[in-house]
Amino acid sequence: MALKIGRAAASPPFRVMDVIAAANARQAALPPGAARVLRMEVGQPGTGAPAGAAAAVVAALQAGDPLGYTETFGLPALRARIAAHYREWYGLDLPARRIAVTTGASGAFPLAFLAAFDAGDRIALAAPYYPPYVNILRSLGMRPVILEAGPETRFQPSVAMLDRLAAQAGPPDGLIIASPANPTGSMLPAADLAELAAWCAANGVRLISDEIYHGLHYDTPIATAAAVGPDAIVINSFSKYFSMTGWRVGWMVLPEALLRPVECLAQNFFINAPHIAQVAALAAFECGDELEANVARYRRSRARLLAALPECGFPRLSSADGAFYLYADIAGRDEDSARFCARMLAEIGIAATPGLDFDAARGGHFVRFSYCAPEADIDEAVARLAAWR
Ligand SMILES: Cc1ncc(COP(=O)(O)O)c(C=O)c1O
Repeated sequence: MALKIGRAAASPPFRVMDVIAAANARQAALPPGAARVLRMEVGQPGTGAPAGAAAAVVAALQAGDPLGYTETFGLPALRARIAAHYREWYGLDLPARRIAVTTGASGAFPLAFLAAFDAGDRIALAAPYYPPYVNILRSLGMRPVILEAGPETRFQPSVAMLDRLAAQAGPPDGLIIASPANPTGSMLPAADLAELAAWCAANGVRLISDEIYHGLHYDTPIATAAAVGPDAIVINSFSKYFSMTGWRVGWMVLPEALLRPVECLAQNFFINAPHIAQVAALAAFECGDELEANVARYRRSRARLLAALPECGFPRLSSADGAFYLYADIAGRDEDSARFCARMLAEIGIAATPGLDFDAARGGHFVRFSYCAPEADIDEAVARLAAWR
């Protein structure tokens, strides 16, 4: 007899993982000397952890540090250093007790959602969006409410959209924002963030701000939701700016009222984020030169693609204010982004992610290009795309 499988296990796949597998398979099947597959589907820096972070780990191991459990919210020195980071980057004084170190931003999502919401609650977010928001909410029995956003609002939610939603169905219980966002790279200017936060405060809506791409921003200044609302939950990570995806370490800035609830959840779910990764994270704060050199490289690749892609048949691009993504509208070229990406991989060896991952309704005519690959690969991609159109 087939046994029951829980409803939460019905989470849809994250299609980019299928693209990665297809790109790996194509690369493995290439004859020796053939042109490599160019990886513009991945959402992680090609660089590893900064050298100072790796050195701190070696030193801890050589010193025989037992690296046992830490406190649930992390090493006190790391929490204090993250609080200092808010002073340095945003001029904001936050007490270290409001910082919770987590197992990446991914580990923060279920803690934040469970602490702030109940099953059945409605949580608004703009499409296109990072798919795990919706998949995690649904697996917890919560109801994502999708606000379709386009280039007019930089693919970000707006107060007008929230007003419309509130008029039709009442205000939601929560709002998730991300700036810079995945997949568009677009940002919420500080004034728009403040407006959204004020709307949430006025309507009793919990704001959750995913700030994982802070530091990877080019012309638009960053603003943190921690500065605009004491009730907002801020989520961040060492994966992107700090170039430490595999270390699985991130953090939250929590409102006072959620400190103990999140701590209790985290004690039961995770105990603590990996100790060794916390050692690396603490040292990563002192590696600014290396990290800023990465940002400079992304900035050059972004400029190269923004200039070249329109000439290669991609005239409509997201504003790409930050992160390392460009979201290209391929309407008129193909209405099926999965087919388009498969053809691009087969014919010119470029892997990119179909928009369907990020927007079930409209993603069929969008493609996400990531530009965190080496600069030489970005140049080569431009040459192949220009010849392909
Ligand atoms: C917007 C966004 N949030 C969160 C994550 C997950 O990050 P982490 O590696 O910290 O779990 C990602 C990863 O790509 C992302 O793009």
